[in-house]
Amino acid sequence: MTDEYPVSAPVNLHEYEVAARALLPPAVYGFFAGGAEDEVTLRANRVAFEHWRLLPRVLRAIREPDLATTVLGQSISLPVMLTPLAYQRLVHAEGELAAARAARTAGTIFTLSTSASSTIEDVAAQTDQWWFQLYVQREREVTRSLVQRAEAAGAGALVITVDFPVLGRRESDLRYGFTVPERANVVDRPLAEGATHSWALGWDDLEWIASLSQLPIVLKGILAAEDAVLAIEHGARGIVVSNHGGRQLDSAVAALDALPAIVAAVESQAEIYLDGGIRRGVDVLKALALGARAVLLGRPFVWGLTVRGEAGVAHVLELLRAEIAMAMTLSGCAHIEGVTRALVVPEGVVERR
Ligand SMILES: Cc1cc2nc3c(=O)[nH]c(=O)nc-3n(C[C@H](O)[C@H](O)[C@H](O)COP(=O)(O)O)c2cc1C
Repeated sequence: MTDEYPVSAPVNLHEYEVAARALLPPAVYGFFAGGAEDEVTLRANRVAFEHWRLLPRVLRAIREPDLATTVLGQSISLPVMLTPLAYQRLVHAEGELAAARAARTAGTIFTLSTSASSTIEDVAAQTDQWWFQLYVQREREVTRSLVQRAEAAGAGALVITVDFPVLGRRESDLRYGFTVPERANVVDRPLAEGATHSWALGWDDLEWIASLSQLPIVLKGILAAEDAVLAIEHGARGIVVSNHGGRQLDSAVAALDALPAIVAAVESQAEIYLDGGIRRGVDVLKALALGARAVLLGRPFVWGLTVRGEAGVAHVLELLRAEIAMAMTLSGCAHIEGVTRALVVPEGVVERR
């Protein structure tokens, strides 16, 4: 936790991880960096991007590409939002507050986790562009209160995470005996003997959750096209194609690999976003070309937060913005609508279209 760079400013998101790792206790680094079991899915999220290549177009007289777009009608200045990440005060004293301010400055949306270490109201005081991520709690009244507080504080959407019936097996945490701190918005009461925190959440429960507020609903953690169709049938306005950053079901399909079938099945009835493995501007372009409306960035912004607080998160977003702009210019895309399926081809010899 420092406001100074250890050597010089990192020049890409990977270097932010290296710098952050040097500053964090191993157990904390392991909590943020790690995935479930053998981390097959964690690695797959990255590798999937390499299986697609860009097919650039030339001579399109592009001076400065326009990165702006909208999500659920809200304007964002680049097609990247911050994904919900728990316990950000573990890496910096200002935690979520600093990250929310950096997102606001960058002109994008901060998503506040149910397991945040800052209160809903304090985060809402930093930014008017934020969504609330809901882990449905076993006690209905606790869920109701979270949703209503988020709506009252001005959240733009309710992101319900659906890939978390139980906590995935993250072996770094087991190795270090890492236990999470208290949450700022939920009182974690001790469980009765034999009880578990997990709640067998089903499609039928969504109706009740939707009835708690007027907020548009986004379901996060969908990988199967059939579930994307069910999500729409149950009123979702957005879907985050995600495997929780490889932290839940190990060997689950890479997020990017799951995307095309979901885009095809949804047929524009909801906005599709993606998270997992976004580290470069070209990754963002590939996800957009395959049909995502925007992406969400996870661990790299926490590395920025670790190294330099708000300024670090802002720098991570600016690095990514510059990379996206460069990639768009070099591939002949003047604006986000110009990033279409024709921009990506599978790795290998290009067939005539
Ligand atoms: C340390 C950590 C904490 C997370 N906490 C949450 C959370 O509270 N709620 C949630 O929906 N997802 C959570 N996630 C999953 C992220 O939202 C996201 O799906 C994933 O990190 C994206 O992948 P990336 O880190 O490769 O960009 C967490 C991920 C990490 C690494």
